[in-house]
Amino acid sequence: MTKHLELYKCEVCGNIVQVMNEGFGELVCCNKPMTLLKPHSKDEEKMEKHVPFFTQDNKIQIGSELHPATVEHHIDFIQTVTEDKMRVLTTFLHPTEEPVSNIYEEDEHFKAFEYCNIHGLWVNEK
Ligand SMILES: [Fe+2]
Repeated sequence: MTKHLELYKCEVCGNIVQVMNEGFGELVCCNKPMTLLKPHSKDEEKMEKHVPFFTQDNKIQIGSELHPATVEHHIDFIQTVTEDKMRVLTTFLHPTEEPVSNIYEEDEHFKAFEYCNIHGLWVNEK
């Protein structure tokens, strides 16, 4: 069974899909079951450049040390999800765009996710 807002990837063609409505069926692409993306978080290798970092001026920066932004290695998107999962904001980035985004309100509580084309999905909570 899928869960609201889960992200699944096709290991063959690279399709990534997000669950908008939960269901019982298995998600399949290129004739293979899709892989559920499980977010990495703090205390893992490479966290300095991947964990979403909340700056003093209310922006989300990818990595306390800014993540690379090259065609070969970059952040594909940044997504914020409110505590009640009722509001989602996704910002897609061009490969060479600086991975800083999504100005937020000071008192908001949410999760911030980012997807690196090489190192996968990462999360942090505010
Ligand atoms: Fe990366």
